[in-house]
Amino acid sequence: MGEQLYALQRRIIEQGQALPGGVLRVDSFVNQRVDMRLMKEIGDAFARRFEGIEAGCVMTVESSGIAPAGMTALAMGLPLLVCKKQSSKAARGERLSTPVRSFTKDTTYEMSVSREYLPEGARVLFVDDFLATGEAALGAARLIEQAGAILAGIGIVIEKSFQPGRGRLERLGAPIVSLARITKMRPGERDASQSICFYEED
Ligand code: G4P
Repeated sequence: MGEQLYALQRRIIEQGQALPGGVLRVDSFVNQRVDMRLMKEIGDAFARRFEGIEAGCVMTVESSGIAPAGMTALAMGLPLLVCKKQSSKAARGERLSTPVRSFTKDTTYEMSVSREYLPEGARVLFVDDFLATGEAALGAARLIEQAGAILAGIGIVIEKSFQPGRGRLERLGAPIVSLARITKMRPGERDASQSICFYEED
């Protein structure tokens, strides 16, 4: 476990880029080119941390959440449920939906999922790549509530602890596991290890 965290933190320090406005660029291994070996380690780490939560599926939101959530689902032997951001003609049956505001991108989208795949009483583990304002996870929690299902846990790959997401999610009462918690970012800092700071215990 510790080693996976260490590998993720090291990668963030080596290849991440702190941008102005509290944005971390990680598109060389998370958001665009995806390091699947690292994703496998992330999936294994979540599977260990959430052992015993008795989830029936792993849920995420397209698109960047799919790789870590998919590897988590594989490690836990569970189906992956992908919430959509756009309506699709191929989607049939009753859909649950909720508006989600993306502060980072300054847009709003309609998060949706087929009711058929989220049965009443199902226990759901939500996994996403970033926790910033918490809007995506709160949207997923609303869909889970609409379905009469249960949010059993929240797994986050990179948490920006200097933003309000964690505080907002804690009110949901589900256990939250973040594999890398960034406390501070200093864009423009020349020494990479000083530009991104993590929680000591991580
Ligand atoms: P949230 O992730 O906590 O819901 O907060 P917010 O509404 O601010 O996030 C909006 C989008 O921006 C999300 O992606 C989120 O993953 C992404 N994001 C937030 N902070 C960062 C950051 O520091 N670095 C990067 N690389 N992404 C960030 P999304 O709209 O769901 O897009 P995608 O999954 O299709 O990429």
